[in-house]
Amino acid sequence: MKTARRRNRYRSHLQRRRPGRCRYDRSLKGGITMRNDTVMVIGTGQMGSGIAQVCAQAGYNVYMHDVSAEQIQKGMKRVSDQLVKQAEKGKMPHQDVKQIYQRLSPSASLEDAGEAFLIIEAAVEQMDIKKEIFKRLDDITGHSAILASNTSSLSITELASVTNKPQNVIGMHFMNPVPVMELVEVIRGLETSDQTYETVVAAAEKLNKVPIEVHDFPGFISNRILMPMINEAVFALYEGIAEKESIDGIMKLGMNHPMGPLALADLIGLDTCLYIMETLHKGFGDDKYRPCPLLKQYVSAGRLGKKTGKGFYTYEAT
Ligand SMILES: NC(=O)c1ccc[n+]([C@@H]2O[C@H](COP(=O)([O-])OP(=O)(O)OC[C@H]3O[C@@H](n4cnc5c(N)ncnc54)[C@H](O)[C@@H]3O)[C@@H](O)[C@H]2O)c1
Repeated sequence: MKTARRRNRYRSHLQRRRPGRCRYDRSLKGGITMRNDTVMVIGTGQMGSGIAQVCAQAGYNVYMHDVSAEQIQKGMKRVSDQLVKQAEKGKMPHQDVKQIYQRLSPSASLEDAGEAFLIIEAAVEQMDIKKEIFKRLDDITGHSAILASNTSSLSITELASVTNKPQNVIGMHFMNPVPVMELVEVIRGLETSDQTYETVVAAAEKLNKVPIEVHDFPGFISNRILMPMINEAVFALYEGIAEKESIDGIMKLGMNHPMGPLALADLIGLDTCLYIMETLHKGFGDDKYRPCPLLKQYVSAGRLGKKTGKGFYTYEAT
């Protein structure tokens, strides 16, 4: 109910039409047919596995693709662990777990993207890697497939420029942890079509998320505001102004944040935080976005946060 109310509020702000029907039945090279019930997620790390989970929960068949079978298996295990946890907490019937999990298929080949009407890329936050993926997707997919990126900060317009269908390229920025967070920031590149936008809004709503539209600028809205705060917290630690627990405690108790900025950085991944700060710094050419040297040092040391077991805090390895 709460989600539906918020969704309506943002939709009326944006004064958008209801999504139109889309063409999904086009036959591709090699006899592959695009299906309107099939999604591919590329990159099965913490975000990709969460995105795959919510897509499968919404009834989509989901291909999960990554650089290796091992990475894909890790991602699939993360989804199954999450589903079991939700069932144990009584948030879904136990019999649904198997049904949802069966909608996931490991994909060793990017060619499987030809079957998907929506491809959501959630690989590492590096422009050259994402561009390479988008170039290949452009060749594999038909003229109406939507190529979405879960990038936290990179230009959708630049990503679209390596394809022959920039009108189909869009940012679909989920929040972490994906199954819990309601927002999807929807970023239109310079040439993103209304049809692509409407299809993505409809898909986000089907996932029970609230899509909010922003323009294509470094860090969009979420990370333009969040990441400088995190970076400032790292500077405060670096300068010895307070202990990490004190910095986080002040922001939690004083500002009512559900978690402190350093713990949040660990959850996001310090590598991702650094890439985002570098994008903001380069994109705006303003030194106020200079990444803190301590953040750089931790990333060089492989202290990436929760996903490697150590960041500002220490965790059980996942
Ligand atoms: N971590 C967050 O809180 C958060 C939130 C929103 C958006 N994002 C964005 O989501 C994306 C993924 O972030 P993450 O936190 O899941 O990172 P992660 O490190 O957990 O996972 C990244 C995955 O991408 C895979 N990968 C790398 N190169 C690839 C390629 N060429 N093809 C296919 N897969 C490839 C890696 O093997 C890995 O499994 C990034 O763009 C990030 O900015 C992250």
